[in-house]
Amino acid sequence: MIGELRLYDIVNTPGVGADLSHINTNAKVTAFIGDAQLGDALSGCDLVIIPAGVPRKPGMTRDDLFNINAKIVKTLIEGVAAHCPKAWIGIISNPVNSTVPIAAEVLKQKGVYDPLKLFGVTTLDVVRAQTFIAEILGVNPKEVTVPVIGGHAGTTILPLLSQSKPPLVLEEDKAKALMERIQNAGTEVVNAKAGAGSATLSMAYAASEFADACLRALNGDTGVILCTYVASNLTDLPFFASQVRLGKGGVEEFLPIGEMNKLEQENFEEMRSQLAGNIQKGADFVAGC
Ligand code: LMR
Repeated sequence: MIGELRLYDIVNTPGVGADLSHINTNAKVTAFIGDAQLGDALSGCDLVIIPAGVPRKPGMTRDDLFNINAKIVKTLIEGVAAHCPKAWIGIISNPVNSTVPIAAEVLKQKGVYDPLKLFGVTTLDVVRAQTFIAEILGVNPKEVTVPVIGGHAGTTILPLLSQSKPPLVLEEDKAKALMERIQNAGTEVVNAKAGAGSATLSMAYAASEFADACLRALNGDTGVILCTYVASNLTDLPFFASQVRLGKGGVEEFLPIGEMNKLEQENFEEMRSQLAGNIQKGADFVAGC
């Protein structure tokens, strides 16, 4: 589904581009480097995936990346607004809970904001939940469906284990431990990499799943459902990750959150103030620029 794959960064893209261009697909790979080439990289794009920015080191939260990554995301979104204002945008750069609101505010300022086409990529949380649930159930992870709602940091990552298919029947302490493992999975990778960064390979896989879902919808598939962090009226929080159905114009339907058990409801109540604060911090950053 990819006609042309454009790579952009401030360093290293020629090498990555040459490497990717040898893969036997029809996609034409082109590499762009440095501020002066951002416009050419973005011009005419249908889907822009933004994984840019610095990763965490052990002991850091995603929010500790805010000061550096907020500016990077703002600059890239300004480029999107100028060169491909109708593109779908998937944001991976952390803290996702804040960088998506930053993107929304920048696009609003530029008069090109379409809330149905701006997504925070929370697919990795779903991928992790599927993997860990499958380990317990002894099934293929691809057979597991489980919604992950909220946001993408700590307790704002809320896997609805009670809605897992196949069903997962766990005592409360085991369900709590599994929920916490999913919430801390990014930190598990950060600690294992011991200062060399955070998840890249599982994140790339999740990003490809996300991109594939977007491209299928853009190509007219009307049955694409995925969990993603979007502007939403499902709760009183202005941005919230939930299951959505995609169509050619972006989000076509917000699927209901469904029933939560006591543990999930408690986590939901607990995360609200953190997520609200993360969202506000993003909006305040753009207002203060
Ligand atoms: C992840 O969940 O792996 C990413 O958000 C990176 C991180 O810092 O944890």
